[in-house]
Amino acid sequence: MYSFLNLSLIAVSAFLVIRQIDRARRRQASLPPGPKGLPILGNIRDIANRQDYLWITYSQWAQRFGNVFRLNIFGVPTIILNSHEAITEILDKRSQNYSDRPGELFDQSQCSRLLTSVSRYAYGQPAWGNVAICLLHRKTFHQAFQPLDLPRYYDIQREGVNEVVRKLTTAPDAYIDHINHFAGSTVLKVIYGYTLKTENDPYIEMLYKAVDGLGPAMDHGAFWIDYLPILKYVPAWLPGASFKRNAKKWYQDTKELKEKPWEWVQQGEAAGIAASSFCTETAERLGITMGEGSEMEDMIKNCAFSAYIAGPETTVSALLTFILAMTLHPEVQVRAQEEIESVVGPGGVPDFNDRDSLPYMNAIISEVLRWRPVLPLSVAHRAVNDDVYAGYHIPAGATVVGNVWSIMHDENLYGPDVAKFNPDRFMRPDGKNPPFPDQAFGFGRRVCPGQDFAMNSLYLLMSTILASYTIAKPLDANGKEYDPEVKYTDNAT
Ligand code: HEM
Ligand SMILES: *[C@@H]1O[C@H](CO)[C@@H](O)[C@H](O)[C@H]1NC(C)=O
Repeated sequence: MYSFLNLSLIAVSAFLVIRQIDRARRRQASLPPGPKGLPILGNIRDIANRQDYLWITYSQWAQRFGNVFRLNIFGVPTIILNSHEAITEILDKRSQNYSDRPGELFDQSQCSRLLTSVSRYAYGQPAWGNVAICLLHRKTFHQAFQPLDLPRYYDIQREGVNEVVRKLTTAPDAYIDHINHFAGSTVLKVIYGYTLKTENDPYIEMLYKAVDGLGPAMDHGAFWIDYLPILKYVPAWLPGASFKRNAKKWYQDTKELKEKPWEWVQQGEAAGIAASSFCTETAERLGITMGEGSEMEDMIKNCAFSAYIAGPETTVSALLTFILAMTLHPEVQVRAQEEIESVVGPGGVPDFNDRDSLPYMNAIISEVLRWRPVLPLSVAHRAVNDDVYAGYHIPAGATVVGNVWSIMHDENLYGPDVAKFNPDRFMRPDGKNPPFPDQAFGFGRRVCPGQDFAMNSLYLLMSTILASYTIAKPLDANGKEYDPEVKYTDNAT
C-alpha cells in the first residue's frame, strides 16, 4: 500500500511546501486543531500506525482535539466531523457546498464518470445541458425509487425472502451464501429484470469480484491521489505506481459488469421478452432505444451499474449484523418472535402491511443500523467553497468525512450503554425515542437513493426469518454453544 512513497518525494515536497505557504497566507480563520503530524507526510503515519478501526481511532482523536478536527494528509486538509451537531449542520444543512466527492483516483481511471457514488457533484465533468453526471444519475434513481414506486418491487422482495427461507431448511449453515444471493438477486431483478440462477450465477461472481477490487480504493484512508495530487502525473509503469495500475485494472474488470447485463436486457428487448425493469422503464421514459449508442443510453447503463455495485454488499452487511445480534441476544429474538406471532398468528409470516404493527421488530432494525453502521465513515464528501464552522476555516477542496460511528455511539443521543445491542433504546415507555439512525444512509444531497428499498428488504427478510426459525449459537467440538468472534473489514464498500 505504501510502496509508492518510494517515489521521488523531493519534487513533490517542493510543490507541497509552496502550496502550503500559499494556503496559510490566504487563511483567515484557522483550520481546526488535529494531531501534529510530520512536515510532508502529514498524519499518514498516525493513520498507518493506528491500533484500532479507523472510525474508532477518529472517535478517540475527537476526545483529544474536539468534535471537529483536522488531519493533514500530504498537505491536503481533511476535516473529520464527529458530532451529530457538526455533521447535520455541515453535511445536511450546508449540503449544497459539501456534496462533491474527492475523486481524483476515480477521475483518472474514468470511474467517476461511471459510478454515481464517486461522481463529482457539480463541476469538473462533462455534462448534458449543463447537468452534471451526478445530478442526472440522482434524478434517474429518484424517478424509480421514490415511495410510490416501492410497492412495484414487493413481489421481487417476497420471492427473494421465500427463497432464503426454503434454503435455510436444507442448508442452514450456508446462511451467508443465501444472504449474498438474496441481496444480489433482488437488486438484479429490479434493475435488469434478470433472475439469478440458484447457484453459481455468473453475474453474482462478477459482482463480488468487482466490489472486492473497489473496496480499498473507496476506503477514505486510501484516497492517496487526492492527498498527493501530483501523483496524477506519475506514469503507470513506474515502480511504486501500482495504485494507478490497480485503478485501471479495476476499470477494465468492471466494464464487463457494466456491459454484460445491459446486453442481456437489450437482447430480451429485441426478442420482445424482456421483463420490465429499471433499465427498460428508464429507457422508455427518456425515449432511448437500447443499443443506439447515445450518451443518454450510457448514462442509464451507468446508473444501473452503480446500483448493482452499491446495493448488494451494503444490504448483506446489515443482514449479517442482524444474524450476529440475534445469536448473541436470544432474549431479543424471543420477544420479536412473540410480537410477530401476536400480529400474524401462529405459523403466519409477516408482510409489508404488518410493518407498522411491529414496533419491536422496527426497533431491532434501527438498532442493527446504529450498533454496527454499514459504512461507519460513510463515503467521503468534499467542500466546494471556503467556509467557516464554529470559528474554524474549512477550505475549498478539503475532504470532509462524517464519522457516523461516533454519532451512533453518542450517549447523549442514544442513551446509556451505547456499546450494547439493545432495541429497547427505541422503545422508551415515555415515547421519547431517539430518532431513526438516518445517517447510516449518508447525508444531504448524496444520501443513499436506495434507502427505502433497502429498508424494505431488511424488514421483510429479518421478520420472516424470525417468524420461521430461531437463530442459535454455533457449537464447539464438544457440542457446547459459544459466542462467535467477529471481525468487520474497514473498507467502504
Ligand atoms: C442497508 C443497505 C444500504 C446502506 C446502509 C447504504 C448506505 C449508503 C451510504 C452511507 C451512501 C453514501 C451517502 C453519502 O455519501 O452521504 C450510499 C450511497 C449510495 N447508495 Fe446506498 N446503501 C444501502 C443500499 C443501497 C441499495 C439497495 C442501492 C440501490 C438499489 C443503493 C444505491 C446507492 C447509490 C447509487 C449511492 C451513491 C449516491 C451518491 O453518491 O450520490 N444503496 N449508500
Ligand atoms: C455556499 O457557499 C457560497 C460561497 O461561499 C455561499 O454564498 C452560500 O451561501 C453557501 N451555501 C450554503 C447552503 O451554505
